[in-house]
Amino acid sequence: MVLCAKIIKIAVDGYSSCGKSTLARDLAKKLGYIYIDSGAMYRAVTLFALQNNYIGKGFFNKNDLIANLNSITIQFKPDKNFNPITYLNNKNVEKEIRQIAVSSYVSEVSAVAEVRARMVALQRSLSENCGVVMDGRDIGTVVFPEAELKLFLTAAIDIRAQRRFNELTQQNNNIDFETVKRNLIQRDDYDKSRKTSPLRQAKDAILIDNSKLTKTEQLSIALKLAKKVINEN
Ligand code: DC
Repeated sequence: MVLCAKIIKIAVDGYSSCGKSTLARDLAKKLGYIYIDSGAMYRAVTLFALQNNYIGKGFFNKNDLIANLNSITIQFKPDKNFNPITYLNNKNVEKEIRQIAVSSYVSEVSAVAEVRARMVALQRSLSENCGVVMDGRDIGTVVFPEAELKLFLTAAIDIRAQRRFNELTQQNNNIDFETVKRNLIQRDDYDKSRKTSPLRQAKDAILIDNSKLTKTEQLSIALKLAKKVINEN
């Protein structure tokens, strides 16, 4: 008799820079599932909006962006370590989308209902018939309300800001800690208060505060939860 483990969907939501991507990617690798970074998609749309001057300091021509959504192609291709690299219209934009220039506008762009509808459709189509771990803000509430496992991550703001600051300075970005912290606070406020799909913890999500957890400890908690759900199903 062949026993087939159940394939499930895992939603990892939470605040900015609280380690969602790291956890989701490592969890997917352990389970042999695909990993989808939904934030990278909103960042790619934001980069497209910046490149085309639909958004900038003090202006946002939403209608122009909406009218041109059809000319955006977003793909993920694996690098040599099987980590997904984001491509916007066939160009590798993985580094560019992580810059503060994109971070400063991504909340505004991701609040547009038409942008969200398009990204949610893409997120669902990329995950059809697969075991998937997807991280974002609305995965457990909107994209996969039926997900068998939902995690909601949080951590103290100073810890999150320090992690993000370290990441950016390691990539040679010349930026100060307070700017990074301010950007995180602004994005959280914006993401929580937008009309369409605001950031909130799904009723059936498990809260993990990782302020005092190492990456390994956090992964081991999530892996235990996932294996329990997979074996129960
Ligand atoms: O996860 P991230 O910080 O790379 O996401 C960038 C922004 O995209 C975040 O500020 C909010 C938005 N986002 C969203 O609205 N919904 C998602 N599912 C993922 C990200």
